[in-house]
Amino acid sequence: MNLLLYGAPGSGKGTQANMLRARYGIPHIATGDMLRAEIAAGTPLGRQAQPILAAGQYVSDEIMIGIIRNRLRQPDCTGGFIIDGFPRTIPQAEALDVLMSELGRHFHRVLYLKVDTELLLKRLSGRMVCPTCQRTYPPASVTCAEDGTPLAQREDDKAEAVRPRIEIYLQKTVPVLEHYRGEGLVSEIDGRGTIEEITQRVLAAIGQNGQLN
Ligand code: AP5
Ligand code: MG
Repeated sequence: MNLLLYGAPGSGKGTQANMLRARYGIPHIATGDMLRAEIAAGTPLGRQAQPILAAGQYVSDEIMIGIIRNRLRQPDCTGGFIIDGFPRTIPQAEALDVLMSELGRHFHRVLYLKVDTELLLKRLSGRMVCPTCQRTYPPASVTCAEDGTPLAQREDDKAEAVRPRIEIYLQKTVPVLEHYRGEGLVSEIDGRGTIEEITQRVLAAIGQNGQLN
């Protein structure tokens, strides 16, 4: 099963992807997590990406398309995948269409987590993240439940980066939703409520569309 998680910064993509990964045993491919891993490792790409992420801007389409092309060709993707954070622009969406067709794959669902801006800001301002495994936690969480690492704030969750992230999402990423709506793939999910309530909505949306393969 190939799933695409779509939604604004802080809408809960990572949180729900983590549940889907555990439930279906397919990889969670999060382009933001991949970039942060490059930054942490100090690679040339990480050094190039660091100021872009810190400012809440987007890394170039060319780089991001290259990253996703390599990742979807890895052997762990043969049984399906959950993509989170890509595509964020129309050129990325068009490149992904080409790649999926080259791979002989299609998306079963695009899961759109719909959350209003006020709630996004509230969630992002308090979010804690594990620097080791990148799992996200609600405000005031202290250590990672998976590996015990002390949690930290994400650099782009600081107030000065959050607004630009939401603005660029509205400008460049909202049109991507229309791209998939045209293909009849989008399930719009109310992203307000508890994590468990949203999980139930996500699973119901996947269930409507068919079986695992
Ligand atoms: P990325 O890491 O993808 O960030 P994002 O899209 O801004 O999304 P977030 O990870 O902030 O939010 P989320 O939806 O995953 O929410 P979460 O589950 O954590 O990208 C980062 C950057 O990388 C970009 O800004 C860009 O610079 C670059 N980049 C990445 N991909 C790119 C691309 N394709 N092209 C160009 N540049 C790219 O939840 C948020 C918080 O809320 C958490 O604390 C969580 O615990 C909490 N929470 C979640 N659900 C609930 C709930 N129901 N109730 C209460 N709290 C909840
Ligand atoms: Mg995320």
